[in-house]
Amino acid sequence: MSKLALRGGEPVRTRPFPSWPVFDRREEELALEVVRSGRWWSYTLGEAVAAAKEDHAAPSSKVAAFQRNFAAAHGCRYGIACVNGTAALEIALRALGVGAGDEVIVPPYTFVATASAPMLIGATPVFCDIDLDTFNLDPRRLEEAITPRTRAILPVHFAGLAADLDAILTIAARRGIPVVEDAAHGHGGSWNGRPLGSVGAAGTFSFQVSKNMTAGEGGMVITRDAALAELCESLIWAGRQPGRPWYEHHRLGWNYRLTELQAAILLAQLERLPGQTRRRQDNGRYLASRLREIPGIAPLAVPSYATGHAWHLFVFRFLAESFGLGRAEFLRALTAEGIPASSGYAHPLHRNPLFQQPGLPLDYARFQELCPASEQACAEAVWLEHRLLLGDRADMDDIAAAVAKIYEHRQEVRP
Ligand SMILES: Cc1ncc(COP(=O)(O)O)c(C=O)c1O
Repeated sequence: MSKLALRGGEPVRTRPFPSWPVFDRREEELALEVVRSGRWWSYTLGEAVAAAKEDHAAPSSKVAAFQRNFAAAHGCRYGIACVNGTAALEIALRALGVGAGDEVIVPPYTFVATASAPMLIGATPVFCDIDLDTFNLDPRRLEEAITPRTRAILPVHFAGLAADLDAILTIAARRGIPVVEDAAHGHGGSWNGRPLGSVGAAGTFSFQVSKNMTAGEGGMVITRDAALAELCESLIWAGRQPGRPWYEHHRLGWNYRLTELQAAILLAQLERLPGQTRRRQDNGRYLASRLREIPGIAPLAVPSYATGHAWHLFVFRFLAESFGLGRAEFLRALTAEGIPASSGYAHPLHRNPLFQQPGLPLDYARFQELCPASEQACAEAVWLEHRLLLGDRADMDDIAAAVAKIYEHRQEVRP
């Protein structure tokens, strides 16, 4: 095989991978409809529940239509659209009664929002380590994280791979603790045939630009519980209640509403999601099978309960010793071959400055010992963005060929 690109050889790949976001005339059409209508805002208070009724006329509001369509596509009757995935977590937790002094169990290998959302409503995140095979919350470690103050368990379907909900829900049910699924990576994915986000008391999604569907920003809470949906909706409408006067506020709430323009774009993105999900799944499975043949490359496991991987990220563990190279050198060589990749989270959440401030209710330093798998995940992970999986078979072959080429020439990578 030819010389490494890092050493002046021909890169495996010079063509770009698909760019993200993907959009076409459909997004333009729906967004233009909103612009031209002058209806950039809609009174949708009450719609989350009303629009879910079978005899309800098709909503003319894009937000109401998107809530209904997204929830239905994800196995729930009710959807509450909001400004982003962090807000969705705050809303769901607050609606479930989580507040000051309560504890919420979260994994430390995730975006900060999973832990900061509980903090933003006065609660305390308690970290529970992950399973190194899946990078998802390890149910074997869950019991030891539960205290009398635990009010919610917040597993993440990391990278779009279902968390072990069977085990988590069994423990949660025994202890009477609700489960909120952080499905920010999980659009279109499933667990035992059920859509991610639809299994726990509530599920939350993000439509920030990196996600599998996007309007730049945006979020959603889904639930099967009408009363919870009503409460969530009230919380994003400044504590208002449907049918009551405009300046009557029943609870402390936010203005966390999504706009009609964002909802228009998201309606189009939702139409495209099933096809894109199938493509990511085909390519994800194939790429994992190719990469598994290379020493030191360990794609994350896909357990049988993860019936539909949403592949928000393609993640593998880079085992430096087996590969014969450090991860930073490997990533440099891979990028030079034309394959964009990154090492993901630099450290588990509890090692962020946020958790080292004085005056926090917990000593977060102790999680360094309690969460060794998260430390190892941060040291070994390699992430590929989902847009790479929107390519074709030949694109996957290029990724595998680049990794194999670096393995063959590993002695030459080091300067
Ligand atoms: C796992 C996870 N949860 C929550 C969020 C928060 O979503 P947003 O950025 O829309 O607030 C993100 C966003 O990156 C995420 O990755």
